[in-house]
Amino acid sequence: MKIVAIVGSNRKQSINKKLVELLKERYLEKVEIEILPIEGLPMYNQDDELTPAEVVIHVKKIVAASDGVLIATPEYNHAIPAFLKNALDWFSRVDKVMMKKPVMIVGATPGVLGTVRAQVNLRQILAAMGALTLPGNEVFINAVHEKVDEAGKLTHEPTLGFLDTVMNNFIDWVEKTKHL
Ligand code: FNR
Repeated sequence: MKIVAIVGSNRKQSINKKLVELLKERYLEKVEIEILPIEGLPMYNQDDELTPAEVVIHVKKIVAASDGVLIATPEYNHAIPAFLKNALDWFSRVDKVMMKKPVMIVGATPGVLGTVRAQVNLRQILAAMGALTLPGNEVFINAVHEKVDEAGKLTHEPTLGFLDTVMNNFIDWVEKTKHL
């Protein structure tokens, strides 16, 4: 099963990127997780959507060929970062590569609410795009600085256990939605 991971943060030391790297390693035997290189995408412009840059075509092809999408996002001002929204806007148009695509969402923040508001925002955007977001299974990782080791790797056992459950549910969801 090929899963494409979209990290909603473009900073080098992103905790959400580290989270995806951990998931990639932890579920190696169950799923193949590849991080989507969205950092080269230009700002979405409707004038260009029929003749997009090569990088847009390339990245959209990877999404289209995947069995599902994992999104790990921070919360910026109670919403998803523009960096992530920009990628999703490209994916929502012309060949609509997120249509009927199963999606799992995770989010980590040092704050207390664990990206709740960004994830509500993200679920709404994904619904508009026709994606099939895994119902329930909300992974809100709050106070993340207290749950990682010195290298920024998540070590908090209850959170890891919950992630195991959600990943298994997502794998079932990908299978269930395959023929829709
Ligand atoms: C934040 N941060 C933040 N945190 C939060 O829980 N709710 C919020 O609304 C915001 N807003 C916000 C806006 C902007 C512009 C920045 C730069 C940051 C803090 C944020 O959760 C923190 O910087 C995370 O570490 C960002 O995730 P990555 O980059 O580590 O993955």
